[in-house]
Formats: sequence, structure tokens, C-alpha cells
Amino acid sequence: MLSTVLHKAINEQINKEFYSSYLYLAMSAHFDTVNLPGFSNWMKLQADEEQGHGMKFYSYLLERGAKVELAAIAAPVIEGKTNLEIFKQVQAHEASVTASINALYELALKEKDYPTQIMLQWFITEQVEEEKNAADIIAQLDMIQDKGTAVLMLDHQLGHRGRD
Ligand code: FEO
Repeated sequence: MLSTVLHKAINEQINKEFYSSYLYLAMSAHFDTVNLPGFSNWMKLQADEEQGHGMKFYSYLLERGAKVELAAIAAPVIEGKTNLEIFKQVQAHEASVTASINALYELALKEKDYPTQIMLQWFITEQVEEEKNAADIIAQLDMIQDKGTAVLMLDHQLGHRGRD
């Protein structure tokens, strides 16, 4: 049986994953509005992935016979204005999710919950990829400094992101 603290923390993580989905969906809408369909596509796929992450935790709770408690999802706030600022927000957000996953893992160690430790290994690996994806785009945006033609080329490239 899941311990009370771990059960609560996993329910909170479900909310964090759905908030991430909401945040990236808001960013997808923003990029669509400013006529960058490739950036918008990248964010929409990211939003879908986050929903998938939330559902992985949701299914895990049910597999363990634990109650799923869905809480209200906060309204997302886009902090930056430029493309670079928005992707820096993505990077910072992913770093906070990584910290949250790591804290869950530490809790699973403390509680000697071996199945939860194994389940979390997938997320630990996934976070390495999530942080790298954001860092790669930031590096390119840093290089191109919002120069029109280069932004359009990057938009074209991001438009080709398919489902991982
Ligand atoms: Fe669900 Fe982007 O981590």
C-alpha cells in the first residue's frame, strides 16, 4: 500500500503535470497568434506529452489501489515577451518539474516503496530529455537573436517535430 505522504505527493504531481500541459497549451496559442505555426506545433505536442505524464501518474495510483484526487489547475501565466524569454520560462519550468520528480524519488526511497522507485525512473530519464530539448532551442534562439529570416527557418524546423 502507498504511504499517505507518497499518495498525497503523487496526487500533487498529477496536478503539476496537467499545469505544465496547460502552460504549454497557452504558449502554443500565443505562437499561433504571432504567426509562428512551427513554434505553436512544438508547444502543442509538448502540452500533449505533459497530459500523458499526468495520466501515467493517474494510472499508477489506480494500479496501486489508491484514490486519484484531481485538484483545480491554476491559470497559466506566460512571463516573457520574446521567443527567447518564453523558451527560458520553459527551461525554468522543466527544472522545477525535475526537482519535484527528484523529491518524489527521495520520498519513495525514504518510504522504502520499491515499485514507486521503479515507476519514477522513467520520469527521471524523461526529465533529462525535456531539459535538453529546451536548452537546444534556447541555444539556437540565442544565436539568431530574433532575426526574421532565421526565426522563420527555426519555425519551419519546429514545425517538423512529430510525436516522440
Ligand atoms: Fe512532465 Fe515536462 O515534464
